[in-house]
Amino acid sequence: PDVSFKYDDLKVALAAPYQLQRKPEAVDLGFGKYFTDHMLKIHYHRELGGWQKPEITPFENLTIHPAAKALHYAVQLFEGLKAYRGVDDKIRLFRPDLNMHRMNLAAKRSGLPMFDGDELIKCIVRLVQIDQEWVPHSETSTLYIRPTLIGIEPTFGIVAPESAMLFAILSPVSAYYKTNSDGAVSIYADPSVVRAFPGGVGNRKVGSNYGPTIEITSQAAKLGHQQVLWLFGPNQELTEVGAMNIFLVYINEEGEKQLSTPPLNGLILPGVTRRSILELASQWEDITVKEEVITMDRVIQLNKQGRLVEMFGAGTAVVITPISNIGYMETNINVPTMEQEHPVYQRLKDTLLAIQYGHIEHPYAKIIT
Ligand code: COI
Repeated sequence: PDVSFKYDDLKVALAAPYQLQRKPEAVDLGFGKYFTDHMLKIHYHRELGGWQKPEITPFENLTIHPAAKALHYAVQLFEGLKAYRGVDDKIRLFRPDLNMHRMNLAAKRSGLPMFDGDELIKCIVRLVQIDQEWVPHSETSTLYIRPTLIGIEPTFGIVAPESAMLFAILSPVSAYYKTNSDGAVSIYADPSVVRAFPGGVGNRKVGSNYGPTIEITSQAAKLGHQQVLWLFGPNQELTEVGAMNIFLVYINEEGEKQLSTPPLNGLILPGVTRRSILELASQWEDITVKEEVITMDRVIQLNKQGRLVEMFGAGTAVVITPISNIGYMETNINVPTMEQEHPVYQRLKDTLLAIQYGHIEHPYAKIIT
């Protein structure tokens, strides 16, 4: 295994005053349109002993060889986490250790070098501290952190790259997904396409899971749906929705309210929000929580019986997005998510946001300023 880079070796080169950019207003920032003044870079060169010293530099373009493996074979992975400015003006990260763990799993699968996640968290914390004025003073916006690892060795062999680069860039963001006027999304399920398959990389955050969703998502948009519901297999199991994990709330056989999401069977990205929702709701006494296979037939049956209560997507970018409609094989399935008086999705969203913005103290939140 590779010896990790160390935070203690970090070199910082601050931007000169004339290089600093004007910060955008914290309304309607879009998602990943603006970038901050600095970035983190860590090179890996096997012939130089592996990981080099981390550097924070002014934000700049990268120069990479046109034969870099990342550009040809998608030898690449990324992460997404956020820095939140709390009501106490302190900046918090949300469970960054889980992103680091997932990043190393993706690195292993892609032949990219692994590293000590705690060391990367320390480097990212320093980067956010340096650019801390970019963390929006708003509870509807955040600073999105995008750590990325790319294989840059310029040769065409499909083998582990001799050189790689880990970088992290920061972007002040507001909401990611377009919704209907009621804040919910309509989703489109086309059984002829899959996002992931057993033994594949659906459970790793690699770019190659996302690019191939663009065309089908724009087809869905033409039919009036904002997201794609990804089904898998002969039983048309629900896997994910858009770039989010999917959840159902229904009345189970025992007459209890149940929160369900598909199990981590290799087809599902192990979302940090997903895990947090499962852990938080498990402590609530009025709801049963289960990871279980959910088929389209089951959804249709539950809905016919009036037992389907809510559906929603969950992820770092959006937190939680309620689903009000599914377009499926020439039919429209209306899901009564937005008709509930005290919806589970809203209670979960409020709890997560309260932790992230420091309304309540919670071990998930890591204070960094
Ligand atoms: C998420 O954070 O929910 C995502 O999957 C981010 C997406 C832009 C790739």
